[in-house]
This record gives sequence, C-alpha cells and structure tokens, in this order.
Amino acid sequence: MRPSAGAARSPPQSKVTTTTPRNKHSISRVLIILSIVLPVILAITIVGVASTPQAVLFPRLQSFIVTRFSNTVCANKRIGFLCLTSGPHRRIFSSRTMATSTGASLPFERERRVAELAVQRAAVLSKAVYNSKVKGTLEKDDNSPVTIADFGAQSLVFASLDKNFPDDNIIGEEDSADLRSNKELTGLVFKAVTDAIYSNATGQSSSSSSTSSGPVPELGTVSNETEMMDFIDKGRHTESGKGRVWALDPIDGTKGFLRGGQYAIALALLVDGVVEVGVLGCPNLGEDGGVLVSAVRGQGTVVRPLSSDFSTLADPSRVTMKPITTSSEAAFCEGVESGHSNHNLQGKIASGLGITKDPVRYDSQVKYAALALGQAEIYLRLPTSMKYEEKIWDHAAGSLVVEEAGGAVFDMYGDKLDFTTGRTFKRNKGVIVMPKGIAEDVVRVVSEAAIEVYGAKSVL
Ligand SMILES: *[C@@H]1O[C@H](CO)[C@@H](O)[C@H](O)[C@H]1NC(C)=O
Ligand SMILES: *[C@@H]1O[C@H](CO)[C@@H](O)[C@H](O)[C@H]1NC(C)=O
Repeated sequence: MRPSAGAARSPPQSKVTTTTPRNKHSISRVLIILSIVLPVILAITIVGVASTPQAVLFPRLQSFIVTRFSNTVCANKRIGFLCLTSGPHRRIFSSRTMATSTGASLPFERERRVAELAVQRAAVLSKAVYNSKVKGTLEKDDNSPVTIADFGAQSLVFASLDKNFPDDNIIGEEDSADLRSNKELTGLVFKAVTDAIYSNATGQSSSSSSTSSGPVPELGTVSNETEMMDFIDKGRHTESGKGRVWALDPIDGTKGFLRGGQYAIALALLVDGVVEVGVLGCPNLGEDGGVLVSAVRGQGTVVRPLSSDFSTLADPSRVTMKPITTSSEAAFCEGVESGHSNHNLQGKIASGLGITKDPVRYDSQVKYAALALGQAEIYLRLPTSMKYEEKIWDHAAGSLVVEEAGGAVFDMYGDKLDFTTGRTFKRNKGVIVMPKGIAEDVVRVVSEAAIEVYGAKSVL
C-alpha cells in the first residue's frame, strides 16, 4: 500500500503535466496487488467459515459454503493446502492430519474408530455371504427374513465391542434362538464368521485381486460356535436410557440384501439415551464397493469408501445435506418395499409441500445415508399400523448421521425421537427427516396430515 500512498502525495509541481502517467502507473500497481491479495483473502475466508463448528456463524451461509466448496474442493484436494491450514475441523477435511492424529482425543474418537472398523469387517462378511450360493434364509415370526449374514455380522460386531468396551451394554436385532435349534445353519454362520476374521473371504468375486489382511487383534475374534452364540445374545439388553448402550442392526434391509439391492450395517452408541456416535456401512451404495458414513455428535458427518482390507480405514471427506430452504425444491427418498410406510398419506403430503421431483428409492437405513450425501432431501416413515413400534436400531445411527450433516429428525407429530424407551420407540410414531432449512414447513404439513389420518398423538 505504501507506494500508492506515496504516489498520491507526490509533489504538487508535477500536477500540471506529469501526474497523469505517474498516477496511471501507481493505480495499475495497486490493481495488480489487489487482484492478487483479494482472492487469497476471499479463499481463506471461505475455508475458514466452512470449517468453523456448525451454528457458530450464520448457519445458512455456512451450510451453503460448506456444500459448495468443502465437498468439491477439499474432498478433491484441489486446494488441499488451504483445507489444512484453517479451522478446528481441519482433521476432517484433511485425511493426512487425521491419519497422523492418533494421539489427539476428540470425544468418542476411539468409539468411532472401533465402530467403523467393526462395521467394515461385517460388511466384508455380508458381501461374501451374498456372493456364496447358500444364504441360509429363515423366516422370522414377523415374516421378515434373516440370513447367515444377519447372524454372522451381529456376532462379529459384538466380538469387536466386547474386546474394546467390555462394560458397555448392547441392543441387537437378532438373537440366537433360531440358530441354536439348527445345527447346520450354525455351522454355516460360524464358517462365514471365521472366513471373515481370517480374511479368506474378501467379499470380492474370485477374479478380482484379494487384499488379504489377516486377523485384526484390535477387532476381537470368535473362537467357537458357543462363543459365537454368546456374542449374538449379548444384544438382548432391554434398557436404552441409562449409561452406554450400543444399538446394532446387523443387516438393515435383508430383502434388499437378498436381491442385490441396498442394505446397511447400522451401529450407534447411546449415552444416557442420546445418540453420540453413528456408523452406517452401505456396501452397495456408490459405484465402488460401498461407503462408510459416520458421525459423532458435534463433529459433523464424514464419508469414506468401504475398504475390503478391513484393518484400515480409507480417507474421509466431510458431507452435508443440500441446504435447501424451500420445500418444493425437495425430492423424497422412499423405500423400495411397500409395507414399511403409508404411501397414500405420503402422496397427500407431497402435494401439500408442492413436491414434484421424482423420488429416489432405496431400501433400509441407506436412506439416511443418501440424505446425508445430498442425493435427496426428505424421508418419511409413516406407520401402516398405529400398533407398530419403530425399533431403535433402525434409526439411531441414521438420525445422527443426518443431523450432523445439517438435517433434522422428528416423529410425524413433530416431536424429537426419544431413544430412552428401550428396544422400541414408545413415545414416537412415524419418523420424518429433512434439511433444517425446511423442517418447520415439513413438520407442519406432515403433522396436520398425521392428525387427520391417525388422530391426535396418543402415545405416553
Ligand atoms: C482360512 O484361514 C485360516 C487361518 O489362516 C485357515 O485355518 C483356514 O483353513 C482357512 N480357510 C479356508 C477355507 O481357506
Ligand atoms: C470356546 O472359546 C472360548 C473362548 O476362547 C473358550 O473359553 C471356551 O472354552 C470354548 N468352548 C468350547 C466348547 O470349545
């Protein structure tokens, strides 16, 4: 700046004849300096705002900037050096910082890592079961199917939790009753579990190269069929509102799994009834071997590729929902199977909100992941019967993943989900999920429609 100030105060005698060329010269110098300095300041500001903890600055501006820049720019590492240099979330933007920050202690860092690795190992098992001829499908009492993959994934994940957090309680969808009466199926599940632990199965077809990693001591092991049953039955805990409780759906969307569609391995940690960690393994989402989406409360949501070498985690990138503010811009994410949601009512709500975009269809809790990744905006789960109680493992991980990506999750009457009521929701009916920017609008339209169709809320 000094040269230009000097030029402006140049001696008066030059005023008549020579000021014009000299001023032109200094003005162009100022312009050159500004044209270099301003974009740099702008870039630093954008990255700084984008990586500040949520809701500190103007949330709407921030989510706009985060979506526009951090996903595209930082994830592609095109201006990676800027992502590295500013903001407390740099470890999320920068995989290099994250990989070397093992000594750091963000809240629930270890829980998140163990949960991600455990889900990743279970994903390898599920892919191997899908690729094998025998899937060992059984019908449960509620007519929903259960397979070798459900039992195998549950015992693998619980072996990992038992190894790392032996004092924590666990709620899991499956129990071993059906297995104990079926010796042959037990043997098949144990073989799938052992293959996964020893990486004989990589989840890939035999033609592709296998990245065998061998047993991972950190993730625990399953020594025999008895121990496998015992691990599966650790999920029988019934209380969810006190202390540390993990909730697992080992294969969410078994029907999708069986037909090669979407399914999720969903694991969450609740502390005193609040979801603090959520991990969704989605082996068929995206093109390349699936994704692992995870969130810790207050730390945002990240996505990384599922790695078939389950001893390591791939580099993460930050994700956010599309920060729309007008409901009519939204697209629904709907189930593939009818019977999980009331589609008639959904049609009514769509016209109430002025939604005309075609819905995106996915099985299972993958819908939460799809919303967090910006593939659609609204997910409605409307009861087909008021007797049905939603299960906590169907929503715990997904709800946190969406909330940390800029979304809001309520029941169909506009109340927060209450995770303290045990294995099922007793104070909530239906679930609605959307970006914060349109939450008020969506909650109003849905709750009015819900009262019209189901009557006023009559749970506890
Ligand atoms: C899988 O690996 C384990 C440990 O290396 C080995 O004992 C077992 O025989 C292998 N199973 C198959 C089917 O290759
Ligand atoms: C199964 O493995 C566990 C843990 O290694 C061991 O304590 C138990 O004795 C084994 N049970 C049988 C029946 O082999």
